[in-house]
Amino acid sequence: MTSDLHDMTFKHPNDGDDQGSFGDHQAIIQGLLMESATIAPKYFYDDLGCRLFEVITTLPAYYPTRIESEIFRASATTIGAQIGEGATLIDLGAGNCEKAAGLFDALKPKRYVAVDIASDFLDGVLKGLRERYPNLVIEGHTSDFSGGLSLPSDLPQHHRLMFYPGSSIGNFTPDDAMTFLKDIRKELHLGGHLLIGVDLIKDDRLLDMAYNDPLGITAAFNRNILNHINRLIGSDFDIADFKHVAFYHREEKRIEMHLEAQRDRLIQWPKGERHFRKKERIQTEYSYKYHPDTFECMLKAAGFPIVKTYLDDRGWFSVFHAEAG
Ligand code: AVI
Repeated sequence: MTSDLHDMTFKHPNDGDDQGSFGDHQAIIQGLLMESATIAPKYFYDDLGCRLFEVITTLPAYYPTRIESEIFRASATTIGAQIGEGATLIDLGAGNCEKAAGLFDALKPKRYVAVDIASDFLDGVLKGLRERYPNLVIEGHTSDFSGGLSLPSDLPQHHRLMFYPGSSIGNFTPDDAMTFLKDIRKELHLGGHLLIGVDLIKDDRLLDMAYNDPLGITAAFNRNILNHINRLIGSDFDIADFKHVAFYHREEKRIEMHLEAQRDRLIQWPKGERHFRKKERIQTEYSYKYHPDTFECMLKAAGFPIVKTYLDDRGWFSVFHAEAG
C-alpha cells in the first residue's frame, strides 16, 4: 500500500473535480512563498488523505484514538447519565463518525450533526450511518474551522452537546485553541455540554513513534498533501522529492510535521514558482500536547467549568466533560 500511494499516477475516483476555492488558492500560494514555507493541515484531507488518516488511527504506534476509545468505552454510562437523553450531538471534525456512533447507545441523542471539511467522504459515511440508526435524525455540514466555527442555522439551541474528540484541538496553536473554545462556548446555552479529547505530554520517544510509524502510513499521509496541492493550484510537486519529517519539540510542547526537499527543486504553478533548496522544509502540521491542569485552566477561561476529567491509567490521553457556565 505505502509505495503505491507515492505513485503520482494514483488517482482516486473522487479526486477529479477537486478545484478548491479562490481563497484556497491564494492562501496556499501565500504559504508556499513564505520564507519558511507552510501548507495548512486542512489540506491533508482529500479523499485519499481521509482514508490514510483512518488507517493511522488503527496503527499500534498511534495511541491517541485507541486510548480515547477505551476512555469512552469505560465512561460512556457515566457520561450518558450526566448529559441525559435527547441531546443534539454536534460532532466537530466527524471524520468516519465512529467515535460519536460509539456513544449513541449511552447518550441516546435526538439529532446527530456531523461537521467535517471533507464533504464527499462525509456523505458516504452518513449514508451508512442512516442505515444503521434509522430512528436518529442525522445530518452533515461541511466546514473547516480555520475561519472559526460555523454551524447550520436551524439547530435547536436547547440541550446541545459539542463533541470534539481525537485531540484535533491540538492542531491549533494554544492561542487559536482558546479562541476556538470560546467560539464553541458561544454556540451553547448555559448548561450546554462539551466533550473534548486532548492528547497529553509524555515521553518524547512515544510521541516521536506515534508520528513515525514503521509502515510509513503517516509519511504517506504527510506527503499526499502535495498531491492535493497539485490538484488545487496546478503545481508540479513530485512527492518522491520530499521526505516525511516528524518530531516532538519539547519546549514548544508540540509534534511538528514537515516535508523536507531531498534535492534542489523548482516548483512551478500557473503564474508562480518557488525554489526549494536541498533539506529545506515545508511545515505541514503542529500537534500540541497538554498537561491536564493547563487544559482545565483553558476550559475554565473559555467559560467551561469542568464536570469531570477522564484519564487512562498511564495518563497518556484525557477526555474533558465541561458545561457551559
Ligand atoms: C487530526 N489530528 C488530531 C491528528 C494529530 O495527531 O495531530 C493528525 C495526525 N497527523 C499525523 N498523524 C495524525
